[in-house]
Amino acid sequence: MKYQPRYGAQGQSVFFADGRASRTPVAGTIPYDGGGTRNDAGDHGVPNRDFLPDADPIYYKGRFKPDEKQMVKVKVEKQRPKLDKEGQPLKDKDNKPVMETFEEEEDREITVNYFVEHIPKRAIDDAIYSDGVVGYKGWDALMRSGQVRYAINCTPCHGQSGYGGQGKAAHGMVGRGIRIDSKTGDPEGGMVGIASYHIDRLREVPDGYLFDVITNGKNSMASYGHQIRPQDRWAIVAYMRALQLSQYADEKLVDPIEKARLLGGAK
Ligand code: HEC
Repeated sequence: MKYQPRYGAQGQSVFFADGRASRTPVAGTIPYDGGGTRNDAGDHGVPNRDFLPDADPIYYKGRFKPDEKQMVKVKVEKQRPKLDKEGQPLKDKDNKPVMETFEEEEDREITVNYFVEHIPKRAIDDAIYSDGVVGYKGWDALMRSGQVRYAINCTPCHGQSGYGGQGKAAHGMVGRGIRIDSKTGDPEGGMVGIASYHIDRLREVPDGYLFDVITNGKNSMASYGHQIRPQDRWAIVAYMRALQLSQYADEKLVDPIEKARLLGGAK
C-alpha cells in the first residue's frame, strides 16, 4: 500500500512562493451563485449593495488610510575577518580567520499600516444577534455573535481561552496534536506553536490590527477573510478583547460585589 503524497493543513510548502500549503481561493474566484449576491466573505443569498471596500476602508480593511511604503535605515550586524596591525587577516591556532562583528546601515523598505484604533461604529450599529429567545443589538449583539464566531473559527487552534500553545500545554486541539505517543502517552502533532493573545504586544495593538490578522493571516496562520464576513470579523475582535480582559484586568474594573465574592472564594 502506498500513501498518496499530500500536504497537511497549515503545513509548509516549497512549491508555493509564500511557503504555505493551505491555499486561499484564486483572486477573482466566482462563487457558484455567480457572485451577484456575494460580499467578500461568501455570504451567499443576501444581496449586499453596500459592499464598497474602498468607500469604507475603516469597516472593510480596518485602516483609516492606505498602507504606505517607506524607506528606512536599519542597522544590520555583519561579520568580517579581523585584521592585524599590518592589515593582514588574523588567524587562530587552527589557521582559521578570526572574525569580528560590525554594524552597517542598510536601506530597507517597510510598509506602514494605518490601523484603526477602535472597532468602527458601523460594526456596533450593524450588529444583530438572537439566541432564539432574545434579540440583541449593539455591543451586546456584537459580543455575543463574536463569542459564537470565535468558537467556530478560532478555538480549534487558539483554544477557548486564547492561550494557544503547543504540544502538551496547548489549549486548542490543533496545537495539542492528533496522535498520542504510545510509549509516553503524550500528544504529538508537528503543528507550529500557536500564538497566545495574552501578551503585552497583542494587548496593545490597535483593534484594526486584529481585524487584519483575521482577514489576511499572519506568518503561519492562514487568512480567514474569504470565509468570515467583515461584520463577524469585528465581532471576533470584540470577543478577543473580552478574552484579554478576562485574563488581565485592572482590579478597579471589577464590580465591588463581584470582587468580594471572588476574594471570599479564594480563602
Ligand atoms: C489552523 C490554526 C489557526 C486558526 C484556526 C486560527 N489561528 Fe490565529 N494563529 C495561528 C498560528 C499558528 C499563529 C502564530 C502565527 C505566527 O507564527 O506568528 C496565530 C496567530 C494569531 C494572532 C497573533 C498575531 C501576531 O501578531 O502575533 C492572532 C491575533 C490570531 N492568530 C487570531 C486568530 C483569530 C481571531 C482566529 C479566528 C478567526 C484565528 N487566529 C484562527 C493559528 C490559527
